[in-house]
Amino acid sequence: MKIAILGSGGREHSIASQIVKSKKISDVYCVPGNGGTSSFCKNINIDLDNFGKIYKFIKEKEINLVIVGPEKPLVNGIVDYLQKRKVLVFGPSKFASKLEGSKIFTKKLCKKYKIPSANFEVFFSKKKTLSFLKKSNFPVVIKADGLASGKGVYICKNFNESKKAVHEIFTGKFGKTNKILVEEFINGEEMSYFIISDGKNYKLFNTAQDHKKVGEGDKGKNTGGMGAYSPSSLISPNLNKKILKKIIEPTLKALNKRKQKFVGFLYAGLMIKNNEPYLIEYNVRMGDPECQTILPLLKSDLLELIIACCKSKLKKINIKWKNKKSLCVVLCSKGYPEKFKNNLKICKINKLKSKKNNLIFHAGTKVKKDTIYSNGGRVLNFVSIGNNFFNSRKQSIASIKRINWKNGFYRSDIGYKTIDR
Ligand code: AMP
Ligand code: GLY
Repeated sequence: MKIAILGSGGREHSIASQIVKSKKISDVYCVPGNGGTSSFCKNINIDLDNFGKIYKFIKEKEINLVIVGPEKPLVNGIVDYLQKRKVLVFGPSKFASKLEGSKIFTKKLCKKYKIPSANFEVFFSKKKTLSFLKKSNFPVVIKADGLASGKGVYICKNFNESKKAVHEIFTGKFGKTNKILVEEFINGEEMSYFIISDGKNYKLFNTAQDHKKVGEGDKGKNTGGMGAYSPSSLISPNLNKKILKKIIEPTLKALNKRKQKFVGFLYAGLMIKNNEPYLIEYNVRMGDPECQTILPLLKSDLLELIIACCKSKLKKINIKWKNKKSLCVVLCSKGYPEKFKNNLKICKINKLKSKKNNLIFHAGTKVKKDTIYSNGGRVLNFVSIGNNFFNSRKQSIASIKRINWKNGFYRSDIGYKTIDR
């Protein structure tokens, strides 16, 4: 089979690494891929906004299956576009992708189907938002509608902070908008919860804990994710049952009621408070860096699972997992998540090879004449698999130290809530 994987992050590198293990594979193309995927796949530089060019490439190379990694092409409708042209593609439709593409769509769905989530109000003007905020108790959470790469969310401790957030959102910091969301702040512990669905049936696809803040002890600005571990230490059979019954199943049923279905990975960003789950957000894809910790624990054939989903045959498959702990530390470029430089040489990376339990997934990298250069804020992912998170973290950090990249930084406390608990 010939496969095309769309995306260029650590998530897509980890998906590609798992896919090439399948016996059914002949060629794997990464569009556009990164410096890591270029060593075992064919990187093809096409802009993911250009559906026409992607389709032309798929026809030319006779690609049998397309796997979509990131949210943007999903929200823009790439699955509908390719399916209309008879291409087998794994990912949710444009309608189902609204679960991530519009926070207001999801909040309204939660309200209608009584899915536990923060109380909220939607406003269409700055004046009305501010007059509501004047009477509110703080903290409150203020969000821009639409995709903002995890950055359109403000946790405001007082009125002045909220005023600034409202101003930034309405003046278009995250794209032109006339809508804003004000949410109750839920004080709990976060968990990333995944299912894989074929539209009729779904299976649990493990759990993880992300670390979104740039600084140690969860301080500072929000990022795409500085590290993760899997499985989450919060999950238990009892909590799992509650999540499925109160959150996942009502969501899938709500889509079915509208004659829609969800095919692909669904990622529920949850807040757990007093052992009760609350939905903070949905993402319609795997998480990054959660994916890099979850896939190495998978014993089953990922390609078989994905094909079964595309053909509505997931029910028969029993997904198997290794009984191990997995932890990822992300090496970032200095300055991230704000200004950082690209095109910086990473000299020693080629000397360090991925091993069975010590994996390296590239994210923001590119290759020129056999040399790896940085090409983004989150640059490399160091994932270690073991019997406990403490050892996994030690190993990941040891690998980072061996690379000794002067332009990089990382959080050395990934997993602190479970390791030091
Ligand atoms: P989101 O992009 O909606 O996932 O929000 C980004 C981050 O903001 C989440 O991962 C949470 O840490 C935090 N957050 C969002 N909404 C809430 C809420 N209602 N209560 C507490 N924290 C929240
Ligand atoms: N790790 C957060 C995300 O993938 O959205």
